[in-house]
Amino acid sequence: MAVFTNPAFDSHETVHFARDPAAGLTAIIAVHSTALGPALGGCRIWPYADEAAALTDVLRLSRGMSYKAALAGLPLGGGKSVILADSRRDKTPAMMRAMGRAIQRLGGAYIVAEDVGATVADMDAIAAETAHVSGTSATAGDPSPWTARGVALSLEAAARLRLGQGVEGLAITVLGLGSVGGRLATILAERGARLTVADIDAARAAAVAAATGARVVAPDAAHAAPADVFAPCALGAGLNARTIPQIAARLVCGAANNQLETAEDDVRLAARGILYCPDYLVNAGGLISVARPALAMDDRAAEARLAAIPETLRSLLAEAEARGTPPGAAADRLARARMVAPSSAGTRPAAG
Ligand code: NAI
Repeated sequence: MAVFTNPAFDSHETVHFARDPAAGLTAIIAVHSTALGPALGGCRIWPYADEAAALTDVLRLSRGMSYKAALAGLPLGGGKSVILADSRRDKTPAMMRAMGRAIQRLGGAYIVAEDVGATVADMDAIAAETAHVSGTSATAGDPSPWTARGVALSLEAAARLRLGQGVEGLAITVLGLGSVGGRLATILAERGARLTVADIDAARAAAVAAATGARVVAPDAAHAAPADVFAPCALGAGLNARTIPQIAARLVCGAANNQLETAEDDVRLAARGILYCPDYLVNAGGLISVARPALAMDDRAAEARLAAIPETLRSLLAEAEARGTPPGAAADRLARARMVAPSSAGTRPAAG
C-alpha cells in the first residue's frame, strides 16, 4: 500500500497505523497539519473495501480538516482517523477504548470527535483512555445539529446569490439522511422548501419523507432529480465526471466531506454553470462545536463563528468569480494562505 506516493498524500505531518487485535481495532490516524494548533477531526468507522481505500480517505479527510479550521478562523490544525470496521456490526466499547489508547500515544497532536459511524457514546468510551477527545456527553455533545445549521445558513446565502431567492419555495434534494442530512431536511422543510430525499437506508428515507412531506428517490438517481439545489450529505466523491453532467440543480451545497472526486470536478461544475459551495467551508459548524472545549470557547463565541460561515462563503464566491477561479480552488487557496504557523506569521488567529 503506497503512502508517500498516494495522490492524496499532501506532506502530512504524521500518519499512524494502530492495531489492537484483542479489541478488534484496526485504525489509521492522519495528522495533516498542526501549524495553527492541535489537529482536531472526527473518527470515521466504515467497512472500507480495502486498506488502500481507508488510507486515501483518511489522507483526504485530514487535509480537509486543516482547510476547514483555517477557513472557520479556528486556531486548530487538521487531522482525522478511520477505523476499518462496520459500525453496526463490529463496534464495541473495547474497540473504542483501544482507539482512545492509540490517540493518547500521540500526546495531544490529534484530538478526536465524531464522524460517520461514531456517536457521543463512542467518544465517552474513548474518554476513558485519553483527554484528547471532544464531542463527549460531558463536553460538546453531538456536532451534527451545528453542522446542519451551518449548511442551512450557507444554502440560504448561496441561493440568494445564485437563484435570487431564499430557501422558501425552492426544490431541494438531500442525499444522505443521517445525523446531519436528516436534520438539514427538517430545517429546510420548516423553511418552506419542497424536498426530495434519498438514502441507502430505505427505512430512514421513508421516515424523513413522512416527517417532511418529501418525495423519495433512489440514492444513485438523487443528483439527477429535478431540483434547484442539490445537498450531498452522505459520503464523499459524489461530484464526479459521471454525475456532474446529470446534475439538474444550479446550486450544490451540502454537508458531505470531500464531495469533489477530483480537482477537475470543481472546473466541470463551473463549466456547467452549477455553483458549488466548498464542502469544508459550509460544513464547519460541527468543528466549531467540538472546538469549544479544546479552545475554551463559550457558546456565544461559537455562535458568532457559525454565523460567520455564510459571510465567508459570500466573500469567497465573490473573489472566485472576480478571479475566474472555481470555488473549490478558491477555497483551497484561501485556506493554504491562512495555514501559516504563528511563529512565522507573528500572530495567532483569535480563538473565539
Ligand atoms: P451519518 O452516518 O449519520 O449519516 C450518513 C447517512 O448517509 C446515513 O443515513 C447513510 O445510510 C447514508 N448513506 C451512506 N452512503 C450513502 C449513499 N451512497 N447514498 C445515499 N445515502 C448514503 O453521517 P453524518 O454525521 O450525517 O455525516 C454525513 C456527511 O457529512 C459525511 O460525509 C460527514 O463526513 C459529513 N460531516 C458530518 C459532520 C457532523 O457533524 N456529523 C460534520 C462535517 C461533515
